Amino acid sequence: MATHHHIALIPGDGIGREVTPAACAVLDAVGARHGIRFSYDEFDWSCARYRELGAMMPADGLDRLRHHDAIFLGAVGDPGVPDHISLWGLLIPIRRGFRQYVNLRPIKVFEGVPSPVRGAEPGVVDFVVVRENVEGEYSEIGGRLNRGFPEEMAVQEAVFTRAGVTRVLEYAFTLAGSRRGRVTSATKSNGIVHTLPFWDELVAETAVGHPAVGWEQEHIDALCAKIVLEPARFDVIVGSNLFGDILSDLAAAVAGGIGLAPAANLNPEREFPSMFEPVHGSAPDIAGRGIANPLGAIWTAALMLEHLGHVEAASTVEGALVEVLAGTGIRTPDLGGTASTEEFTKALLEFVR
Ligand code: NAI
Ligand code: MG
Repeated sequence: MATHHHIALIPGDGIGREVTPAACAVLDAVGARHGIRFSYDEFDWSCARYRELGAMMPADGLDRLRHHDAIFLGAVGDPGVPDHISLWGLLIPIRRGFRQYVNLRPIKVFEGVPSPVRGAEPGVVDFVVVRENVEGEYSEIGGRLNRGFPEEMAVQEAVFTRAGVTRVLEYAFTLAGSRRGRVTSATKSNGIVHTLPFWDELVAETAVGHPAVGWEQEHIDALCAKIVLEPARFDVIVGSNLFGDILSDLAAAVAGGIGLAPAANLNPEREFPSMFEPVHGSAPDIAGRGIANPLGAIWTAALMLEHLGHVEAASTVEGALVEVLAGTGIRTPDLGGTASTEEFTKALLEFVR
């Protein structure tokens, strides 16, 4: 197992620039304890760069990332730059160019962080959203016609391929096999009559290869309600690009806030680097005040450790998260506390060393 990793760092905008140093501090501390060394190449790719140079990243951006072991991204987004520019100018090209077709978003209710959902207890609510990350509803196929006229129109095609859907389903079923053995597929095949019945068929086909894993499918609307009413019943939820995106923010809210939620964009075949980023965005409303919750970014760093093969180091970080929340009252303001990003990180580091 490699013990020296080259990480491409893209702090991005807003609180992305505040939570990324926290994640690196934790990586360095856990690395010191477990004999792992990290070198960081930092890139200023962001909306700030877009405002200055007209592009989120340079034209050869992917080539500059290609030889790193992993990519860690804070968040991008700026109220003065349309969100589709920050997304399609940076995140989506990386996800697609590096075939990061699994977006993995685990969620847990921690002791010491009350869930807004009644009955959502620590240790019981522990599930993972597996989001298809490179096709589906997020497609470039479509267009606009008759701009500015009364008959103006927009059409956008969703793209579901057998290969693309099957590989993410395989990932979800295999993951469930290593957890509690239950897959829930998000669908809407009653209303969307071509793509989602196809999705359902591929779920049933994939399930045949995983006889030890139980599965069910739920329409997305009913599933949202059930995640709020009975969050403990889920193990692995798999959904298309759009459904998975929405479900993971809902799941983060069940756990107590978006600042807690981690995400990994994985290329399971490891032909390319995978990218690790907290679920939250650049949070312009609190950026620059040093009060962002770094928990999501730190948990994201643990996912990166696990991907790099350092399972023990990853569980050291996750254990420290559990302990700082259960054993101290130190919280950032989004969780009702008064600690700064730095104070929370410092407290957590005590449990890492
Ligand atoms: P957001 O996640 O940035 O913020 C939503 C709310 O949650 C805000 O009130 C914010 O203060 C709070 N929040 C988020 N993360 C927090 C943290 N770590 N600690 C404490 N509070 C936190 O989502 P929003 O407002 O929809 O988007 C803001 C910008 O971020 C937009 O430009 C959007 O496009 C971008 N964005 C970028 C993402 C990425 O880089 N992967 C993901 C989501 C949004
Ligand atoms: Mg989202």
